[in-house]
Amino acid sequence: MTAPNIVATPLRKVKRAVAAAILMARTRREARAAFRYDMAQFMENAGALHLDRKAAARAEIVMGYHVVEKGLTMPRRRLGFGKGAVVHLMNLVDSFERRFGEDGQVAHAVGVLRAYRELHREWPEPMPRLDAFLAARSDVPAAVEPHVSRSDFFAAKDAPFPEFAASRHVCRHFAGPVPRETVERAVEIAATAPSACNRQHARVHVVDDPALRDRLFAVQGGTRGFGADADKVLVVTADLSCVRWAWERHDCYVNGGIFVMNLCYALHSLGVAHCILHWSVSPDADREAHRLLDIPPNEAIVQVIACGTPPEEFDVARSPRLAVGDILTWHGGGR
Ligand SMILES: Cc1cc2nc3c(=O)[nH]c(=O)nc-3n(C[C@H](O)[C@H](O)[C@H](O)COP(=O)(O)O)c2cc1C
Repeated sequence: MTAPNIVATPLRKVKRAVAAAILMARTRREARAAFRYDMAQFMENAGALHLDRKAAARAEIVMGYHVVEKGLTMPRRRLGFGKGAVVHLMNLVDSFERRFGEDGQVAHAVGVLRAYRELHREWPEPMPRLDAFLAARSDVPAAVEPHVSRSDFFAAKDAPFPEFAASRHVCRHFAGPVPRETVERAVEIAATAPSACNRQHARVHVVDDPALRDRLFAVQGGTRGFGADADKVLVVTADLSCVRWAWERHDCYVNGGIFVMNLCYALHSLGVAHCILHWSVSPDADREAHRLLDIPPNEAIVQVIACGTPPEEFDVARSPRLAVGDILTWHGGGR
């Protein structure tokens, strides 16, 4: 029988600790380089800093028409809304057409403005600038937003995937509760989402206290006019503890985003109306939300989803998509 090696065990421990320290130092160095690279890429390309580029100008118009489109479909909509947004959108379209010519998304913006004007047919204040703008583009019809019944909205919830996916839309009309078991089932379905090495970064915090919901929405800032109707808010986070290398710096948002999409499909399939809400907030707001919901610091907030049962009838924003040709690039022959 050989004697136990009393030196080898501590030596092995030391070696392991040294190797871990080297790896961590390397990860810190690489993380700094990676975030510097991201920063440079952002500064050189983010639309907000390069509005002269066509894609950035188009994105600004899409955001502009989205504001009006959202107004057209909002619960308790009051006529006369969004005057500033309408003027801003006309200015953007004028400028885009002058610089870049025709575009499908820009035409939709004109259609949304026509729908706005038609809704204000009986409005007592004249709208000469909008009338002249629309008269100069008389070939573009009004982009009327779909008015749907609850059963129509969920009619394709068991349909084959292409129809099911096309039927999913955010809904900003909430009239009733979502049972706890339905939320649990939705999360169970969402957990089928793939994740890097199956590390399953996503976590979900459910806010079902109205006062807490309102405080969270005050921090988030994207739910004016409908947030207070939401029965529950699902805050999807991703656990940074699952991240293993500097190059995985975006993994919380990639894996969390995939989970969010699965969760939205799950909610739609279960007949729950959902509205995805951005988490593009300042560091102070992010800290505030962590504090408010007692979310551990290792969980990055990825997305917020308002949900509820929709009323019998409501309006949905049309939100048209880019053409496949605008999305797809082939590298090779395009076989
Ligand atoms: C990342 C992300 C952030 C969003 N943020 C908001 C938001 O703050 N407020 C809101 O009303 N809708 C928000 N939406 C919903 C979008 O406006 C909506 O998904 C888009 O217009 C497409 O419409 P659809 O989902 O009905 O097809 C967000 C969606 C995503 C994916």
